[in-house]
Amino acid sequence: MDVIRLKGGRALNGKVTVGGAKNAALPIFAATLLTDEPCVLENVPDLRDIRSMVEIMQYLGAEVTQEGPHTWRIHAKVIGTRAPYELVRKMRASICLLGPMVSRMRKAEISFPGGCVIGPRPIDLHIKGLEKLSCDVKTRGGYVFVDAAKLKGGEIFLGGRQGSTVTGTENILMAAVLAPGTTCIDSAACEPEVEDLCRMLIGMGAKIEGVGSHRLIIHGVKKLHGVTHSIIPDRIEAGTYLLAGLMTKGDVTVEGARARDLSAFIDKLEEAGQLVQVIDDNTLRIRAANTRLHPVDIITLPHPGFPTDLQAQMCALMAQTPGLSIITERVYPNRFMHVPELQRMGADIAIEGPSAIIKGDHRLSGAPVMASDLRASAALILAGLTADTGETWVQRIYHLDRGYEKMDVKLQSLGADIERLNESAMPNDLKGEE
Ligand code: EPU
Repeated sequence: MDVIRLKGGRALNGKVTVGGAKNAALPIFAATLLTDEPCVLENVPDLRDIRSMVEIMQYLGAEVTQEGPHTWRIHAKVIGTRAPYELVRKMRASICLLGPMVSRMRKAEISFPGGCVIGPRPIDLHIKGLEKLSCDVKTRGGYVFVDAAKLKGGEIFLGGRQGSTVTGTENILMAAVLAPGTTCIDSAACEPEVEDLCRMLIGMGAKIEGVGSHRLIIHGVKKLHGVTHSIIPDRIEAGTYLLAGLMTKGDVTVEGARARDLSAFIDKLEEAGQLVQVIDDNTLRIRAANTRLHPVDIITLPHPGFPTDLQAQMCALMAQTPGLSIITERVYPNRFMHVPELQRMGADIAIEGPSAIIKGDHRLSGAPVMASDLRASAALILAGLTADTGETWVQRIYHLDRGYEKMDVKLQSLGADIERLNESAMPNDLKGEE
């Protein structure tokens, strides 16, 4: 297993390009199962989660081949209807195969994805949506069984306790595109990744109105055809590199950073005292040499609110910003596994219910830390980049590799003192328990 070693204190400077969005690519891979014609996906990030998706799609019978570093061809001439626990448990996002199986095969059996360190991950809204599409859904032995012989369009309100659901919306959308009649999804998630999936489906011949809004209307069609689709850039990766520039008081330009996908984040940075320069539709720049930051309060919400996937990274920023800030998680109220590790680096953060109360302005120092999930890993690396003493060693970076392609290499190109090493290179006295 690999670890990351880094030493902070250097201002990062230069240009970095983000890859395709993981959370757009995963449902879009699943959507290729909706047709028996070949599909080509471009700008696919090279990530562990994508490889897990490929494995499960191959298990289902699709021919999946990599045609270039970021290009994949998928041909699902015939597909199975069962996604087993041993594959689904590797990646919760495999639940987005449910919609395509229902739509194309009128039958699906998929293991419950289960919870994870960021909190419970229920699928009650996915099930409710399918029932509104006249599916018969049963749960037994850790599996969801769907009989969709009578699949047809329906009216669905898909809001839950935490607001809209991203993969829930994607599943119902994919189930509805081949369902006879018209489906209306109210309180649909409108994340840019959902919008990208809609564009891909429209490219396959689907009829969808209201793309990018909270109300999607889908007119079912009989058949979808193959498509070539390029995945949108990853807004969370973009936000992470902008923060790397800001936190190291550097000058970082991010290509693949679209202001329209990051408006809540840009707004918060401006409130904190840092302007984000819009270079063009696809490029943002942060020049932070003389910035004096103020604390800001943040509440994570479904899009267009502040994204939960940038919450951990903002905790790392606020830990070093003089004053008191409160970061409240409304999407995953327990998503604070990064906090104890940031505390080990010197951060003063208390958790009260769904909020992190951060007393900023503590000089962070490098420390051996454990990554607990994908975004927590990124937050620890950002914190390590700003620590002015000591080295930071991050263990369990397989979490990082789920969602950031070559983060160590990209940060190196900006001037960071960071390297990926085999765990055997890590001094034994720094190792935590595996
Ligand atoms: N929820 C329910 N019932 C459901 C579905 C969701 O109560 O049936 C709740 C969840 O427990 C959560 C909230 O609704 O509190 C939102 O969950 P959502 O379904 O939107 O999340 P998701 O689709 O499982 C995707 C991303 C996550 C991202 C969230 C929120 C993918 C593959 N994953 O998850 O990404 O945090 O949306 O934006 O798209 C990450 O990349 O690090 C990550 C966790």
